[in-house]
Amino acid sequence: MSLFVRSVRFKIPVLLFTALILLTGCQGGGAAGTVPPVTTPQTGAPTFSVTPGAYTTLQSVAIADATPGAAIYYTTNGATPTLSSSLYKAPLAIATTTTLKALAAAPGDTISSVSQAAYTINFPPAPTISAISDIHQGFIYQIVTDRFFNGDASNDNPSQSAGLFDPNGFTDPSNWRFYWGGDLAGITQKLGYLKSLGVAAIWISPPIDNVNAGDSGGNAPYHGYWPRDMMRIDEHFGDASISWSAFDNLIAAAHSNNIKVIVDFVANHTNNIGVGENGALYNNGVKVTDFSSDTGTVSYFHHTPNMTNFDDRYQLQYHTLFGLADLDQTNSWVDTYLKGAITQLLSHGADGFRFDAIKHVNWGWQYSLENTVANWTGAAGLPTSTDRPFLVGEWLEGSGDALYADSVKFSNRSGMNLLDYPLYSPIVDVFAKDKSFTEIDNELTLESAGPSNSNAQPVAQPNDLVTFFDNHDNARIQSLGADTMAVKQAISFVLTCRGVPVLYYGDEQYLHNDTSGGNDPYDRNAMSSFASNDATLLVQYLAALRAANPAVAYGSLQQRWINDDVYVYERKLGPNVVLIAINKSKSLDQPISGLDTYLPPATYSDYLAGTMGGVSLTVTGTAGTNNPASNFTLPHRSVSIWVSAQPVSPAIGSVTPRVANSGVPVTVSGAGFGSAAGTVNFVQGSTTLLATVNHWSDGQVTAIVPSLNAGAAQVTVNQGTAVSNGASFVVSSGVLIPVNFSVSGVPALAATDVVMLTGSVAELGNWSTAWNGASGPAVIPSAQNALLTVSLPAGAAIEFKFLILHANGSVVWETGANHSTTVPSSGVGEAAVNWQN
Ligand code: NOJ
Ligand code: NOJ
Repeated sequence: MSLFVRSVRFKIPVLLFTALILLTGCQGGGAAGTVPPVTTPQTGAPTFSVTPGAYTTLQSVAIADATPGAAIYYTTNGATPTLSSSLYKAPLAIATTTTLKALAAAPGDTISSVSQAAYTINFPPAPTISAISDIHQGFIYQIVTDRFFNGDASNDNPSQSAGLFDPNGFTDPSNWRFYWGGDLAGITQKLGYLKSLGVAAIWISPPIDNVNAGDSGGNAPYHGYWPRDMMRIDEHFGDASISWSAFDNLIAAAHSNNIKVIVDFVANHTNNIGVGENGALYNNGVKVTDFSSDTGTVSYFHHTPNMTNFDDRYQLQYHTLFGLADLDQTNSWVDTYLKGAITQLLSHGADGFRFDAIKHVNWGWQYSLENTVANWTGAAGLPTSTDRPFLVGEWLEGSGDALYADSVKFSNRSGMNLLDYPLYSPIVDVFAKDKSFTEIDNELTLESAGPSNSNAQPVAQPNDLVTFFDNHDNARIQSLGADTMAVKQAISFVLTCRGVPVLYYGDEQYLHNDTSGGNDPYDRNAMSSFASNDATLLVQYLAALRAANPAVAYGSLQQRWINDDVYVYERKLGPNVVLIAINKSKSLDQPISGLDTYLPPATYSDYLAGTMGGVSLTVTGTAGTNNPASNFTLPHRSVSIWVSAQPVSPAIGSVTPRVANSGVPVTVSGAGFGSAAGTVNFVQGSTTLLATVNHWSDGQVTAIVPSLNAGAAQVTVNQGTAVSNGASFVVSSGVLIPVNFSVSGVPALAATDVVMLTGSVAELGNWSTAWNGASGPAVIPSAQNALLTVSLPAGAAIEFKFLILHANGSVVWETGANHSTTVPSSGVGEAAVNWQN
């Protein structure tokens, strides 16, 4: 009997205990007087490891029960627990005022009485968040505009696209693929909340005019990724008369709160082929074409099948994504249109862009897109902001992908930053699936050092990678297994890791809906609350740290101690040091010995003031690079942060943009530049050129790229006799114009061969034949044909040749004289040649 009870206890506790109670009743009422009454023993009441009372730090409360084999069930919301309440498994991280109630049930015993303990938690307020000027010093808050806040009911169901609106979206949605009413006015109304969180920039879903009809399933483009007119604001997000007012109001209000606005921009496609508006493309209200009308000799769209091979460079850039009409960005009209749409958004005050699906947009063309933004200086011909536009592109990948090297080459050479998708999977594995921290640590090393088994180079500026753990295309980590403490640990990690971090709206409110695994569209929830809680407080603490300490915004990252559950890593810029320790184990406190740090000898209290269960740290020794920390224990489920902040001599953290031609204003951000103007130098070999400085502050300088040779340079900031670190920069040969190169008659290729293009300018590799030196690999649309778009200096006369690069680095050149062409001064160039044998 008792063996049977033990084996089924956890599976059917309610039935089992009901049966036991019935049995007890029968016996008790049966043979009174002849058989001694059987009294079933009662399970002992549970006990709590922490005395009830008021606390100012996070409390980890273990619940125990003296009766052998007792299972404990508990509630945190004041309700009386039952056998269907949460089963106790590991200590509870109590971060808000909570009354814990628990009962226990041991096999064969009756259920215990209910024990309870009330904990009042009063965390100290976060430090003040100082005003920042550079996005690296803060974090980005990603918003799906339709799902955030409805600030203007008049645009909920506009006449030009009526019938795609669910009026109960924000309360009790019946259609998750309809518009719910959130709009730009709604974001504007919630800027106070965002400012209080310490948000440096919001990234808004594409605000431009989307298709006015649903797709074949009747789904609406509430997400913004089915554009029709990139010159206008969508009627659902702005107003029914398609004015820019709501966008302009948002920008003005955001800027007055010192919040930047990053606009999601779709350059890859318009809308669905064959339904709705059939890919229709409009230019400020005037219809240009649609997919079926696109029959001219020069096409606006690629008329290609859906891509199926995501490792094929040709399919990725020229085939169709999800049945969405695939724009040919190198059609001269489309090129001008897309760049016009971007500069119009800049003129309306956009501070940067998140470029959608850049893996599917012509890679070579995007160098000229980056260059267009770099050269944009506003109507007055001067930088209107001290802070140059921040660009990040979405290249969905892992670092083991066949084309990882292509993405790194693209970002390093074009200057467009990447979303750190390769780090995303390890982050989810660690914080939602309890995998080992070695996954994260290995990935950080791989991205900064470059993998040994591919052409991929180190990422030029790891602090420009844009890190995240949730977004609108993936289930939120709470739907993947993370609990609230794991969410806070993930927030702690991304906000202290290298890179510019993103929080997805609602992460700080524990927003999630687990229908269909929480995948799209259930990850695009209605924003649930704008209240303060323990997660918003954590975000404020971390925002204050990023703003105050340049080691977090710009510093190096070094792992200092690791096992599956514990990660201790250090950020450092000059004498500024921040050491972070995370223990994600649900129950094991970890003794730490042999920890070395850059922190100078002292005792450091936890910067988070125990709000994440952290502890203090004592460092001994004499100041150096490896000062020993005294042995200590890192509590389970905790985050500790120890900080040393010092005035710094000039230290550069980032240069934005990091690729540009001479004459372009660049923002040099960092610390310790001094309040009085010093100088900015561009160094190339033995040549040092002084840059004209437009703006100078202690942490940010805007300077004009001087006339240098194209290629690598180092930027330094000099203050008196102090010279900063040299930040790497790439000087372009000029304003860049896309040129479509094509070659026919290419000799037969082995599977591991690639066709490269090299030539007489830096953008073509200055005759390099190396994988990372020449341009390419070219795409192969059909046997013996190769295509490659390269963005080249306007008006330049260039010479070039194609070559076949074997996997072992040896090459087969075209024979004969070099080809030559002149890059046009605007538009798109064409250079078609036959392979010379
Ligand atoms: C990636 C976006 O993030 C996703 O939401 C969208 O559906 C596709 N690109 C296509 O635009
Ligand atoms: C549905 C997704 O929600 C959206 O982001 C995407 O643009 C489309 N699928 C692609 O058709």
